[in-house]
Amino acid sequence: MSQAHEIPLNVAYNGPSVPFQQPPRKRRRCGCCCVLGTTFTVILSIIVALGIAALIFWFVVRPTKMEYTVVSTDLQRFDLVNNNTIHYNLTLYMDVRNPNKRIGIYYDQLDFIASYTAWNRFAWAGVPRYYQGHRNTTNLRVNFQGQQLLVLPPWTRDSFNLEKSRGYFGIAIRVYSQIRFKVAGSITGSFKPYADCVLSIPLASNGTLRFESTRCGVDI
Ligand SMILES: *[C@@H]1O[C@H](CO)[C@@H](O)[C@H](O)[C@H]1NC(C)=O
Ligand SMILES: *[C@@H]1O[C@H](CO)[C@@H](O)[C@H](O)[C@H]1NC(C)=O
Ligand SMILES: *[C@@H]1O[C@H](CO)[C@@H](O)[C@H](O)[C@H]1NC(C)=O
Ligand SMILES: *[C@@H]1O[C@H](CO)[C@@H](O)[C@H](O)[C@H]1NC(C)=O
Repeated sequence: MSQAHEIPLNVAYNGPSVPFQQPPRKRRRCGCCCVLGTTFTVILSIIVALGIAALIFWFVVRPTKMEYTVVSTDLQRFDLVNNNTIHYNLTLYMDVRNPNKRIGIYYDQLDFIASYTAWNRFAWAGVPRYYQGHRNTTNLRVNFQGQQLLVLPPWTRDSFNLEKSRGYFGIAIRVYSQIRFKVAGSITGSFKPYADCVLSIPLASNGTLRFESTRCGVDI
């Protein structure tokens, strides 16, 4: 009878371990922590990508401040009637420049509000929407015409009369815009920058007084 290495089937095997084929790590099933981790990584990547895109956009678009310049005016009428109603006929000639080399601008809305001494609003005017290519200048003609009830306090009435005798009026124009940028073939969402023009406008009837070209301050 051979004392061979006969192993009875019903006895536990205590010999050298049978090498066990470990499945490759990748095929291990993803637990709930792993899923969370992956989701977090994806979200983080998206946030970082959006951040970089925003940064690039900022650097490209930020220098694009439209430049508004009032180059000449025609103030045909500016009278205070009955101490409380202003009759006006004012035309502004304005250059709107897009200084950027790569960006076009859609002016979806361009509204002009005229005020006497900054806070006495008396007129509104708008221009039709338009597109402005890069490095382009648009010449706008903006006319305000009509009459408006304007109850001025006595000291403002006094300065009105003083200005009338000098032939110049201090008139402020606020430009409200709604614009979109065209960058590299795609169009951005809307921005609503505004501009302020502080003007000293001579009455046209006094042929000797000149208007000095005035640059407006743009806030983007
Ligand atoms: C306007 O007000 C002044 C005083 O500020 C007064 O002398 C003048 O009569 C008033 N004019 C009218 C048309 O009411
Ligand atoms: C307003 O002024 C313009 C010139 O800028 C003139 O053509 C127009 O007739 C004026 N309007 C009125 C009502 O006087
Ligand atoms: C500005 O735009 C207008 C109209 O799109 C075009 O006719 C003109 O040539 C442009 N000017 C410059 C300097 O690009
Ligand atoms: C124009 O304004 C000047 C300076 O205020 C004044 O001396 C001159 O008389 C005015 N001329 C007319 C036609 O109103």
